[in-house]
Amino acid sequence: MMLKEILISKGAESYIYLTYYLGLKAIKKVRVEKMYRSEFVDIKLRKSRTKREAKLLSLVKKIGVPAPCIYNLNLSQFTIVIEFIDGSLLRKILANNVLSRNEEKLIFERIGEYVGLMHNHHILHGDLTTSNIILTNKKRIVFIDFGLGSVSTSIEDKGIELRIFYTSLNSKHYDKISYLYPAFINGYKKTNPFASEVIKKFHEISQRGRYIAERREKKFMLP
Ligand SMILES: Nc1ncnc2c1ncn2[C@@H]1O[C@H](COP(=O)(O)OP(=O)(O)OP(=O)(O)O)[C@@H](O)[C@H]1O
Ligand SMILES: [Mg+2]
Repeated sequence: MMLKEILISKGAESYIYLTYYLGLKAIKKVRVEKMYRSEFVDIKLRKSRTKREAKLLSLVKKIGVPAPCIYNLNLSQFTIVIEFIDGSLLRKILANNVLSRNEEKLIFERIGEYVGLMHNHHILHGDLTTSNIILTNKKRIVFIDFGLGSVSTSIEDKGIELRIFYTSLNSKHYDKISYLYPAFINGYKKTNPFASEVIKKFHEISQRGRYIAERREKKFMLP
């Protein structure tokens, strides 16, 4: 049976199609050509990110972090076929005020637990935002978009990941960050025994950012 594929999203670097794989509803993610890169670099990047995504998905699933199953991988076509997750992007759920404050807090605590678990196994998501987390109708959290993920034992890298998450919350969910981020950190502490070191790094990085921003402002204020 020939089934048609439907383009459902054009992301920063890929086209996402809704499709079927052996009768299962699936997502086909195809990393597309970027004209601003040389062909050589472009092919290398598209290939390595496709490979990375498959590798990281299988790694996180092994440690119990919910993520789509991999159905197929085709490096020469820069394509990965993964399980379709039925739900909504967490970004939209927060923006549309679908949940109570308490439910939101519980979800962020669980996200923190999963990120802590990943970090305790030295896995970095690489692009941790509420646009890369799906909440299913049964309120299950599923992480997607591991193309920038990596394996690293560095405390600094983990601090940077927390900082990226914080910055994205600050820009997309400014009204809620005051209770979402602390809930996230509560969860993170539960599963990562090295949480305090990572959090310390997070504060250091945040201070550094502030310092740079202040200097930039001062420079502009000079006559
Ligand atoms: N397994 C999945 N199940 C359901 N929807 C998915 C799945 N994977 C991706 N999507 C949808 O496709 C969108 C883009 O996917 P993804 O984040 O992996 O790609 P991307 O190229 O990095 O896109 P973006 O730049 O928008 O983050 C997601 O925001 C989500 O709506
Ligand atoms: Mg994404």
